[in-house]
Amino acid sequence: MGQGSGFGKVILFNEHFVVYGIPAIVSAISMRTTATAFRAPGGFELRDSRPATPGYKADKMQHQKDSLDYIFNAMGLKKEGIRIELGGDLYAASGVGASAASCAAIARALSEEFDLGYSDEEINRVAYQGERGYHGTPSGIDNTAATYGGLIWFKRGKTNIMERMHLSEAVNIVMGNTGKVANTKAAVAGVRERKEANLEKYEKIFKAAEDLALKGREAIEAFDLETLGELMNENHGLLQEIEVSNADLDHLVEIARKEGALGAKMTGGGLGGYMVALTPADEVQERVASAIEKEGFQVLRTKIGI
Ligand code: MEV
Repeated sequence: MGQGSGFGKVILFNEHFVVYGIPAIVSAISMRTTATAFRAPGGFELRDSRPATPGYKADKMQHQKDSLDYIFNAMGLKKEGIRIELGGDLYAASGVGASAASCAAIARALSEEFDLGYSDEEINRVAYQGERGYHGTPSGIDNTAATYGGLIWFKRGKTNIMERMHLSEAVNIVMGNTGKVANTKAAVAGVRERKEANLEKYEKIFKAAEDLALKGREAIEAFDLETLGELMNENHGLLQEIEVSNADLDHLVEIARKEGALGAKMTGGGLGGYMVALTPADEVQERVASAIEKEGFQVLRTKIGI
């Protein structure tokens, strides 16, 4: 029996822009997906007992199958005589890195079961391949966060740049789940289409996104949470401009700001999935979380910079 886990994540700056080489900031959260690999006579079986947004698992079934094929291929293993069980406390939902966390967890469990001794770098490479099953040409940010954890500056390139960042202490956040399963592949393709049709407009937005990431990094390094929150608000504005937010996400963002969050934005692929609110004080975290729950949405109370 081999075991492994992968972190859930929250993108603080520049989902979507990151696909085009604009720097982004991502943090792992405390929730994880776990995987256990067992040798079992016969074919291949997956038992998935992760908590999930209703409809998520059915919707992602084919993606998950493709992803498993990519993972086994990348590891040079045959997809037979094996059972994988998925669990953990990370919600299988859009926007929280659920697919990447499962890929990293599975790669680790298989590496242990087959005595492959993979390094984090190799796990990350396999998890990236697995992510391809879910969204075609991922930037690599989600699998990097799922594999390494922590707070990361990420820039996609011929060789991706990954730099560890530090908050002087972990900071409370609330993640609000719209309950809508989103298709990241379609969201990414939509941005590409609109960008090609409005090059000048999009270039300006992309430049603003790059500036925000740099300022966000400074705010994190200076532990200036008020500025960090304002910059997250601005980032949400840019994501609205490229049309990856939607009415549910905007609604939850508004609730969070009204209840005292220092900043709030959609996170991940958008068009559903999660938003994130920066809520350092315990009572503000609780107020924002309860207000979102009162409207019937599921929330995560967690931290960045752990
Ligand atoms: C999804 O969590 C983040 C996106 O930027 C896609 C990617 O980076 O691969 C939307």
